[in-house]
Parts: sequence; C-alpha cells; structure tokens
Amino acid sequence: MAVQLTVNGQALTLDVDPSTPLLYILRNDASVNSAKYGCGAGQCGACAVLLDDQVILSCTLPVGSVKGNIKTLESYEDDRTLSALNKAFIVEQAVQCGYCISGIMIRAKPLLDKNKHPSIQQIKETLQGHLCRCGTHTRIIKAIQRASRELSA
Ligand code: FES
Ligand code: FES
Repeated sequence: MAVQLTVNGQALTLDVDPSTPLLYILRNDASVNSAKYGCGAGQCGACAVLLDDQVILSCTLPVGSVKGNIKTLESYEDDRTLSALNKAFIVEQAVQCGYCISGIMIRAKPLLDKNKHPSIQQIKETLQGHLCRCGTHTRIIKAIQRASRELSA
C-alpha cells in the first residue's frame, strides 16, 4: 500500500505495510540514522523524533497513521541550541556509548528553546521517558544545565 510521508522536508511515497513502525521507515527508507531502536516498546526514548514539533516515539507509531511533518536531528544545520548541547555533552563527558543521546537531544532542544533556565526538576521531568543504559543521567543533566548557561550568556 502507498504511504506518503514528509521527513525533514522531503516528501516520500513508499509501498509499505501501513502497520510498519515509523522508526523502521525512517532508518531504512529515509536516510535517518539519529533515531535508534532501543526497546521497540515505547519505554526508552531512543527512537524519539518530532511530529509537527511534538516529540513522539517512532518505534510504536504505525507509519500509516502519521499525519504531519517528521523532523529528526538530521534536519538541523547550524542550530545554536544543538551546538550548545553538543559542546556541553562533550565537556561534561555525558556521552558513553551514545545510543540514547539522539533521543535526549531531540527532547532537550525544545526544552531549551522554550526555557533558557530550566531547573533540575524541569530537566528530569522532560527526560523522564529516556533511559541511558550507560548510567550517565547525572552528567546528562549537568550538560543540559551547562548548555542553558551558554545560551543565556
Ligand atoms: S525504541 Fe522507541 S521507546 Fe525504546
Ligand atoms: S550513553 Fe550509552 S545508553 Fe546513554
């Protein structure tokens, strides 16, 4: 069945089973590498992407039900917030294997775009659906705080 999708501004028409999880289509047909398969059950956040600027979990969403524009980290070039986050994650050594990080970035960017001074509690609440199997949660929170300081300097 033909499914139409817009990913990072590119219109795609795909002959796929509409029940296929969006994540599979993104990775296999839309050149997206940032979103990852972690749990496949909506429990870890590794597959998070934006649908009309709202964070969604692409591993559990059937591609046939997607109405709107999908955005992934690949769509951002020279984005000030993501640049600050990237630098801060390196300085705080918040990335170990990196598997969870794309999902966390796609969630942290809208947080910092809306709120330049999020509290630790607000960061924790924003990231509550994201698991880091390397256990770097504390460093991830510090990195987001560091990025927020840079953005408001
Ligand atoms: S892979 Fe989607 S939430 Fe874990
Ligand atoms: S850095 Fe390895 S899962 Fe988070």
